[in-house]
Order: sequence, then C-alpha cells, then structure tokens
Amino acid sequence: MSENESRASFSGKVGFVLAASASAVGLGNLWRFPYLTSHYGGGIFVIIYIILALTFGFSLMIAEVALGRKTGKSCISAFGDLCSKYKWIGIVAALIPLLIVPYYCVIGGWVTKWLATSAIGQLDTLTESGYWWNYITGEISGMADPTIWFLVFAALCIGCIVLGVDRGIERLSKILMPLLLIMMIGIIIYEFTLPNIWDGVNFYLNPDVSKLSAGTFLGAISQIFYSMSLAMGIMITYGSYMKKDVSIERSARNISAIDTSVAILAGLMIIPAAFTQGLGDSSGMGLMFVALPQVFESMPAGEIVAPIFYLLVLFAAMTSAVSLLETVVSVFVDMKKARRKQSIMISSIILIVLGVITVLGFGPLMIDIGPFSQGAGWLGIFDSITNSVLMPIIAIVTCIFIGYVIKVTVITDEVKAEGMAFRFEKPFTVMIKYVCPVLLTFMLVFGLLDLFGIFSLY
Ligand code: TRP
Repeated sequence: MSENESRASFSGKVGFVLAASASAVGLGNLWRFPYLTSHYGGGIFVIIYIILALTFGFSLMIAEVALGRKTGKSCISAFGDLCSKYKWIGIVAALIPLLIVPYYCVIGGWVTKWLATSAIGQLDTLTESGYWWNYITGEISGMADPTIWFLVFAALCIGCIVLGVDRGIERLSKILMPLLLIMMIGIIIYEFTLPNIWDGVNFYLNPDVSKLSAGTFLGAISQIFYSMSLAMGIMITYGSYMKKDVSIERSARNISAIDTSVAILAGLMIIPAAFTQGLGDSSGMGLMFVALPQVFESMPAGEIVAPIFYLLVLFAAMTSAVSLLETVVSVFVDMKKARRKQSIMISSIILIVLGVITVLGFGPLMIDIGPFSQGAGWLGIFDSITNSVLMPIIAIVTCIFIGYVIKVTVITDEVKAEGMAFRFEKPFTVMIKYVCPVLLTFMLVFGLLDLFGIFSLY
C-alpha cells in the first residue's frame, strides 16, 4: 500500500473516525475489558474506566493525533522531527506492537477454534466444564491443537499483509462491525430472560466502593492504552493521514465514545452470562470463552447464532491484528533496515516464535513470576510488560515532550488549525502538563512494585 492510497482513504470527514475505530475495536473491548472488569470487582472498575477514558484517554488521543497531523510523519519520525534528541520515544513506542501482536494472535487462535468447533455443530463440547483451561493447557488435545489454531490466525493476518488487502479488510469491517454490535445487543436482550441474570447485572453496574484500590486505577489505565490503541504510536501514524479540515477534537471524542461503548456492551453481554452459570467472577482470562457457549446452547437457533458471532469477533480481532502487524512491518521499513518484503518476513518470524512461546506458556513452558504473569504464563508477562510498564513510560515521556520540550501550544494550535474550535483546550493543557504525567508516574512506580510482588496494592 502506498502512502498516497492510505491518505486518500481518510479523506472523508467520517473516514478517519471509522478507520481509527476499526483498529481500536477488537479483543481489547471484547476479551480484555470484561476480563479486567470481573477481576477488579465489577461496577467500580467500569466507573473508574469511563471517567479515565473520557479525561485521560481522550486527552492523550488528541495529543497523539495532533502530533501526527502536525508532522505528517509516522511515530518513528514524528518525535525526531520536532526534536532530534527524542527520536527514541518513537522507536520504543513502535516496538510495543511487536510484543502485543504475538499474544493477540494466540487469543485470535482461540476465537478461530471456537468458531470452527461451533461451525461443525459441536457447540456442546465448548460448554463442558473447564473446557477452555483444559484446552489451552493441552489436557484435551495436547499442545499441537492450540498451536495450530494460533498459526491459522497468524497466517490469515500475514496473508492479508502480503496480499496488501488490509484496506479491503478494513472496509469489510465497516459493515461487519455494526453487525457485531447489533448481534451483541440481541444476545444481551436474550440473556435478560435467563435466571440469575440480575446478580450479574448488579455486579457489573452497581459499584461496590469497598473493592476500590490503587490496583483498580492501574488496571483501568492499562486497559485504556490497550483498548484505545494509545502510547504505541498508532494514533500518531493515523493522525499523519488526517486532513486539516477534519476536527481533531471531535474525532478523538467520537473514537473514544465508540470504543468505550463497545467495551461496555461487551461487558454487559459477557459478565452477567457468567453469573447465570454460577461462575461468578472466577473465570479470569478465559471469561469470554467460558461464559458465552452455554448461553448459545440454551438459545433457540443457538447453533447458528454461535458461529456467526464468533465469525464477527474473528473479523474484529483480525482488523486489529492486521493493523498491529502492519505497524511492526512499517517500523522495520522506516528504520531503513529492510525492504517491505524482508520486513514482512522478519515480522512474521518474530510473531511466530513469540506466539509459539506464548501458546506453550500454558503447557511445557509454563512460567509464573508472581502477579506479573497474571496466572497466564508468557501471555500474562507480555501483557504486563506492554500495558503496565512500557505504555505508561511512553505516555509519560510523550506528555513531558509535549508539555515542556515543544510546548503545548504547538499541539493546541494544530487542533485549532483552520479555525477549528477546541472546547476543552484549558483542561487538555492541564491534563497533559500536570495531571497525566504525575498520575502516570505514581501508577507506574506502584504498579511495578506490585507486579514484582514487592508491595501489594490490594
Ligand atoms: N485496541 C485494539 C483492541 O482493542 C488492540 C490494539 C492495541 C491495536 N494497539 C493496536 C489495534 C494498534 C490496532 C493497532 O483490540
């Protein structure tokens, strides 16, 4: 894909918002948000998440998009362009997707497996008690099966990049994403007919303040980075494709709103479903794979609904995985170390090696280094390193860079280019210069102490 093509595709006023939302909505909303919400005590996490998304996430998104549009460069060059000493921020940020995409594809592999199993009419296998954990740990069919499904998903993504059809996938996802939303709403409506549903809804929507801890904030912040695709240079690159006559503030508001709404709907679909089966908040990372199959099984025409649902989830996951992988590929190209073909090759090899380690991390390569591995071996470790360590660091340095090196006005002027309004200019400035860096530094320090098991936040 040439740069001109991608610039052209963001030319419409809604084009930018749709493209950025398609990459933002993915497993972060459908898998990680419900899992964290259930882990951090339900409603209280949801409230903290919404508040932080609309203040902190929204501000950081404006900052990144404006930085990209101002420089017209991808994240590697954007920082260096404004101040050569800071080029490294862009490089580190851009390497984060390299650590995310392998485990993203492992979860994508689970989705593909769930799709295939329900499509051949074996939905009832998925509802067996403990199936998800026994499957990923190799107790049901050995480690080969989860490895193969990871490879299938990874191959689909690599294939899209080799064929250069990622724009096509993105266009397709603009039809499929609304379909997924409609289906989620339908499933939620059906779930309200199930017994015990209100316990789950109460857990999800009624905040229990006694469950509030510093950990809630840390979890919510890590989820904001992950779900809104922040602090890894993505939004800078997207911003560089954006035209001057599109409002950055309005776009950032819409992307944040779409992404947050999808996450909240996903939680409403998945968390109460677990309660209807007496699972409560105990399923951890497997929540999405454990809670839904029984709902489908109890549903009229569930054998048809289930595969369609997993297919739509697969597409949402693929659009995100493809754009993550595309970032990795373009980083290697940008660093002028390799041509596109070689870059695809190097990225794919890294993806497959780290991905296989992640799959085997539930079996022979199982590793547990305290809270850092989140009870999920290498998957938990990759997830913690990126979301709880690297991304906060990048976000802190980005705020300092904008607030004190190039000055906030460079960014606010970009947002106000061509006479655009910037309603939240004052709060934005305060957020970027003071609130974000201070809050993030606290969270990073306490988060690290907690992750290494030196000090518990709970
Ligand atoms: N936000 C995506 C999700 O919710 C995951 C993601 C993180 C992503 N960084 C990204 C997707 C970069 C595309 C590009 O699933």
